[in-house]
Amino acid sequence: MDPTQLPKAYLCRRFTPGVEAALRQRYDLALNADDSILPPGRIIDNARGAQTLFVSATETIDADVLRALAPALKHVATLSVGYDHIDMDAARALGIQVLNTPDVLSDACAEIALMLMLNACRRGHEADRMVRGGQWPGWSPTQLLGKGLTGRRLVIFGMGRIGQAIAARARPFGLEIHYHNRRRLPPQLEAGAIYHDSLERALEAADVLVIAAPGSPGLKGVINASRLARLPGGAVVVNISRGDLIVDDALIGALRSGRVFAAGLDVFANEPDIDPRYRALDNVFLTPHIGSATQETRDAMGWLLIDGLDALGQGRIPRNLLS
Ligand code: DGY
Repeated sequence: MDPTQLPKAYLCRRFTPGVEAALRQRYDLALNADDSILPPGRIIDNARGAQTLFVSATETIDADVLRALAPALKHVATLSVGYDHIDMDAARALGIQVLNTPDVLSDACAEIALMLMLNACRRGHEADRMVRGGQWPGWSPTQLLGKGLTGRRLVIFGMGRIGQAIAARARPFGLEIHYHNRRRLPPQLEAGAIYHDSLERALEAADVLVIAAPGSPGLKGVINASRLARLPGGAVVVNISRGDLIVDDALIGALRSGRVFAAGLDVFANEPDIDPRYRALDNVFLTPHIGSATQETRDAMGWLLIDGLDALGQGRIPRNLLS
């Protein structure tokens, strides 16, 4: 088919090759060839006339972008489960449908949470640096002593699909699972995890805290100095959600003083320009927002968007339609 007869779409980031090929069969597709992070003004310029805008969590899709691209724009499809980068109220007001990628990334994100937890607790990143840097003096009874997991309490803040996938993987390590969530889960999903209806009380139980709550304006800065002070001394903090849930000053202070033993962080405020003080700390394991970064997961995320848009085209409501 002549591509110019197809509906116009703009792809803000490069998706996996198979997904891009499928998009080309469905859309007159323009794309951001160099895969750079586009500021809102460039998105507006590049995507003018598009019916569908494909984005990821790196793009800010605010009311100005949506207003400038309406009324041609009908759908925003984000290659992420999080949608805190999209002004959902403006999308609803303008009749723009928003789709995301739940479920298909839960396992991959849970794996990264476990990787961060294990590295932070057992000082894996420091050990790698020591060997790689030729600074290993040989085995020693007191070298790189970490924090074992068996019998400790893991508190998961945010017990949605990703939180539940983390709990399922953490149980076999002998961790006691606790959680805080807006709503208590039904017993079959809770699977023996201990519910705390207050975040403060949950924190008091946390030998290891894993933050898996969705990013939202209401949770910005929720892990602040007074909440970190609730953690037992020597706790470990892991974040796979959004960086702005943590107040960096507070976490860095707690890491420096040793009140927090270590942290594993996959997400940061103001990515990729992270607070440089993190780089200077040995007791932080840093990864560049790779929670869902497996080939099969990124393929599945792309296909979930395509299937959802196909369903809308056929008058059906897909499960990943947000508005
Ligand atoms: C998500 O899916 O929200 C991940 O953080 C990737 O952006």
